[in-house]
Amino acid sequence: MTKSLLYSRLYEWYARNHRDLPWRETEDGYRIWLSEVILQQTRVAQGMDYYLRFVSRWPDVESLASAKEDEVLREWQGLGYYSRARNLHKAAQMVVERGWTPFPTRYEDIRTLPGVGDYTAGAISSFAYNQPYPAMDGNVYRVVARLLDIDEAFDTTSGKKLFRQLINMLLDKENPRLFNTAIMEFGALYCTPVLGENCLPCPLQGVCAAYAHGTAELLPIRKPRPKVRDRWLIYHIYITRANGETVTLIRQRTEKDIWYHLYEFPCEETDCPENGAGGRAQTVTGAQPETEQKTVFSCTHVLSHQRLHAQFVVHQADVLPEIADTICIPWQDLDQYALSRLTLRALEHLYPREETERLKK
Ligand code: ADE
Repeated sequence: MTKSLLYSRLYEWYARNHRDLPWRETEDGYRIWLSEVILQQTRVAQGMDYYLRFVSRWPDVESLASAKEDEVLREWQGLGYYSRARNLHKAAQMVVERGWTPFPTRYEDIRTLPGVGDYTAGAISSFAYNQPYPAMDGNVYRVVARLLDIDEAFDTTSGKKLFRQLINMLLDKENPRLFNTAIMEFGALYCTPVLGENCLPCPLQGVCAAYAHGTAELLPIRKPRPKVRDRWLIYHIYITRANGETVTLIRQRTEKDIWYHLYEFPCEETDCPENGAGGRAQTVTGAQPETEQKTVFSCTHVLSHQRLHAQFVVHQADVLPEIADTICIPWQDLDQYALSRLTLRALEHLYPREETERLKK
């Protein structure tokens, strides 16, 4: 394959088909970093709202660094995976402390920031500063696997190394910003996992080995995924008033299991779907009579090897039941505990900001 032919076809396609996205209209490393962290967590359409809100509230790294962590977490609300937001805030403070404002320009410095891996450092270095580093996201892995007809899994240690060498070989060192943006956009919009009719009129047909061999839709290859285990969980959120404040019960997970050392509401695990999510809610053994019990949120929460069918039941209890290993805490202290992502998801759903404020009173 000649690289010049690849570049001319790819750039021509990009010029005609790309989306106008706000982070593509800036060369401000801070803004590009923000957009990349948000886009790791959500799709472009939703990410756009978050991005615009973040940059309007914190237009530069100094303002983000001096925000309270809580404010950043709240602006992040809805995206999940709060460690990304904490890292964002921590990284902004590091940039300011190290005198790297308005934003570091050396790849090695950017790469040291919390939450920044090879992909993000490459994306910032190339998009903001046009430096010759690759930015391999899932879309780019797919395009590279197809262009070169690579049938080695890309998500193993040796596969990652191989793909890194290949993208370094393909990268247009004269135009890294354009190359990375265009190949990522081509993967996102055109060279999609299910190709449908796209191969026949594909602009990269003449330079694509997988097209020539008829293997495009089989690529890229992933390593085999471990079997997923189903589990059914019922969580009990007890809410009562004590000494003029709203209190609840939580417990820390200490079992050798998922979420080691994280906190959550008392939980029952059942071994069949009828007793779990979708089934009738039960009370935890030994629970006291209560005034009200309602199932308020059911969801399926997917982890890498487990599918959790969870049901959250709210109990407006007069007296809190005695449940082993739980602690009683003021509702307003909940955010001081490291909560599992599933718990956060339920809380975000059940208690949006206004409701949480009400419970705190
Ligand atoms: N996904 C990750 N980074 C992106 C970007 N810069 N533009 C569009 N989608 C993206």
